[in-house]
Amino acid sequence: MGSKLTAPAISHRKRSAGDDPLVMLTAYDAPSARMADEAGADLILVGDSVAMVVLGHDDTMSVTVDEMAHHTAAVARTRPKAMVVADMPWMSYHVTTADTVTNAAQLVRAGAQAVKLEGGSERVPMIEAIISAQVPVMGHLGLTPQSMLAQGGYRVQGRSSEAALCLVADAKALAHAGCFAIVLEGMPAAVGQMITDAVDVPTIGIGAGGGCDGQVLVFHDVLGLETRMVPRFVRRYAAMHADGVDALTKFAADVRSGAFPEIDECYEMNPDEEMALGLYGHVG
Ligand code: KIV
Repeated sequence: MGSKLTAPAISHRKRSAGDDPLVMLTAYDAPSARMADEAGADLILVGDSVAMVVLGHDDTMSVTVDEMAHHTAAVARTRPKAMVVADMPWMSYHVTTADTVTNAAQLVRAGAQAVKLEGGSERVPMIEAIISAQVPVMGHLGLTPQSMLAQGGYRVQGRSSEAALCLVADAKALAHAGCFAIVLEGMPAAVGQMITDAVDVPTIGIGAGGGCDGQVLVFHDVLGLETRMVPRFVRRYAAMHADGVDALTKFAADVRSGAFPEIDECYEMNPDEEMALGLYGHVG
């Protein structure tokens, strides 16, 4: 691990230039941020996936700027070596450019070093406004969960040649607008590769194939904390939900059987004081 990465440094990281792939992980609170940072992630994304994997919502569209700022602050307080990027939630950049910049600023004041937003060329005015306020922007194309209603569910994008070319054009527009990196989600590997070859900034893939300049996965998916839905692109490296339930079941059984706590898990009292309490009929 080298020194902390910045948006300008990341903007030049291309595997085609011989650079190492970028590693991004989501995190939403202090323990997950510490774990991602200790694991050597280059970037920590405080994703709006927090809505689903932490806050119990059915989609990402329910989370607010205030909630994103709350989770971003928890991550930033750990002072990770990784660069902290915060997701702009739905309807925080579909408003006026002035409100968009104010919303991005709230996330920066909470500790983000960059913001991420979803969408293609239609987002260019907002991206330019945020960048002119000196805040780096990461783009996000393809299966964009905030467009779940408009895209008819969580559907792989860019399957036709026409749709693939639209995604390439959108990626060029985002790079031209000044995005320092672009997340590519849910698209054929060939399209991920085409976009990666077409833009000078790094692409970070999630279900976009191995040709991207980096990869990102959701913390709860990597660790097997989220077990309800397993998208094809997820690789699980642990089974923490099952391990956690197992441990908690053992705790419950020990409490019920009296095996917990044991004597060395209890605090002692000075024997004289204990005897005095006994004299008053409170102990023994
Ligand atoms: O919110 C999130 O976790 C994301 C990743 C899937 C890239 O946007």
